[in-house]
Amino acid sequence: MKLIFLGPPGAGKGTLAALVAETYKIPHISTGEIFREAIREKTPLGLKVQAIIDAGQLVSDDITIELVRERLAKGDAQKGFILDGFPRTIPQAEALAGIVAVEHAVNFDIADEAVVERLSGRRVCKVCSQNYNTLYMKPKKEGVCDKCGGDLYIREDDKVESITKRLEVYRKQTAPLIDYYRKKEKLIDIDAKPASGIIMEKFQELFPV
Ligand code: AP5
Repeated sequence: MKLIFLGPPGAGKGTLAALVAETYKIPHISTGEIFREAIREKTPLGLKVQAIIDAGQLVSDDITIELVRERLAKGDAQKGFILDGFPRTIPQAEALAGIVAVEHAVNFDIADEAVVERLSGRRVCKVCSQNYNTLYMKPKKEGVCDKCGGDLYIREDDKVESITKRLEVYRKQTAPLIDYYRKKEKLIDIDAKPASGIIMEKFQELFPV
């Protein structure tokens, strides 16, 4: 199963990708997560991209494509993968087509108001990156990760100004990919509004394990 997860910030791509990766035993490759790890570890890549990401802008195509090319060459990605947050521009999609043939692009369909609400309530574990939400997916103990006990934090790009910028960038640069994959007959729309368990059921109907 070689899939792309497309959709606006906060649509729930990362949350569903984590469930799918566990169930179907394929890697969840999130370019955003790779960048955030590089930032946490203060690598040269992290230092280069931090300000761009905090401001809600896109990292350059050259850097991102190279990173994905290297990641997809690893052994665990040969049988399948979920690409979460890549491609995000037409040049990235064209480059990806030269690297590997993806089967489908799953498009997470959701209104802007829901995105703002979800991102404003998102909390992330500093240690294992597990996602929570103050409204929809509360941890058992406030501020503490259920899985590993790590502290939860608010992503810098989940501040209101950055969310607005990310939605604007999404509409201009990423939304055109919906038509791009529709024309290639690879697009599958999924309603991203219900609870993640219901979306997972729908996903399993589309892609039986
Ligand atoms: P990235 O990490 O990819 O951010 P994003 O696409 O903006 O997506 P998010 O992680 O914000 O949201 P999501 O859809 O995964 O939602 P989630 O599951 O967390 O990228 C970050 C940055 O890196 C970019 O802005 C850019 O700068 C850079 N970057 C990354 N890829 C790049 C590329 N290809 N090119 C250039 N630059 C790139 O859910 C959100 C919240 O909602 C959570 O709190 C969750 O608990 C909750 N939730 C999830 N599902 C549900 C549900 N069904 N019901 C209720 N709540 C839910």
